[in-house]
Amino acid sequence: MSKPHWRPARTSDLAAISAIAARIHPALPEREEVLAEKITLCPEGCGVLDTDQGIVGYGLAHPWMRYRIPPLDGFLQELPDSADCLYIHDVAVLPDFRGGVVRAYVADIEKLARRSRIATLALVSVYGTPPLWERIGFRAVTADAELRAKLASYGDGASYMLRDLAAM
Ligand SMILES: CC(C)(COP(=O)(O)OP(=O)(O)OC[C@H]1O[C@@H](n2cnc3c(N)ncnc32)[C@H](O)[C@@H]1OP(=O)(O)O)[C@@H](O)C(=O)NCCC(=O)NCCS
Repeated sequence: MSKPHWRPARTSDLAAISAIAARIHPALPEREEVLAEKITLCPEGCGVLDTDQGIVGYGLAHPWMRYRIPPLDGFLQELPDSADCLYIHDVAVLPDFRGGVVRAYVADIEKLARRSRIATLALVSVYGTPPLWERIGFRAVTADAELRAKLASYGDGASYMLRDLAAM
């Protein structure tokens, strides 16, 4: 069996991505077209974890503005001209294939940010995952009322986190 490896996502991977999303995030459903738009707008930010048994995980990221959170299951329409962060929309891996695999995807996103002269990575942590993200350099941001309202669509306990690349 070949080792799972991250490779760029293609639109032909969408059915697999969507099936994993539905399985891992039953309470946070997103339409396949919404996931597809992210791959179309920022293919270099989107990856799949590939194995000889097929796709077992995915990561979706795109340039965005800090402290702005795209609504769940909403279209981005377009990317901002003056993006100041790379926003990791979601990373999900099937349980049998977990064990430190997010690190390599985030390392790819970090390289993309540096190439794009973007100094910050951002994400919304769900399911109590802040400790996982803290281990790879993210810090929770104290949310003001506006940010808290936007976080609400991600469920209870969602937390906005940033990683400053300049400081690494
Ligand atoms: C996030 C994810 C891709 C990370 O995969 P991974 O890099 O292989 O990492 P693991 O799942 O092995 O987890 C790494 C560590 O974080 C811990 N962790 C994972 N999920 C956690 C959670 N919900 N709460 C607290 N700790 C968690 C694991 O126990 C593990 O700890 P250990 O190293 O001491 O055993 C994978 O856990 C996943 O798909 N989770 C479900 C979807 C999800 O939560 N996505 C993130 C949304 S922000």
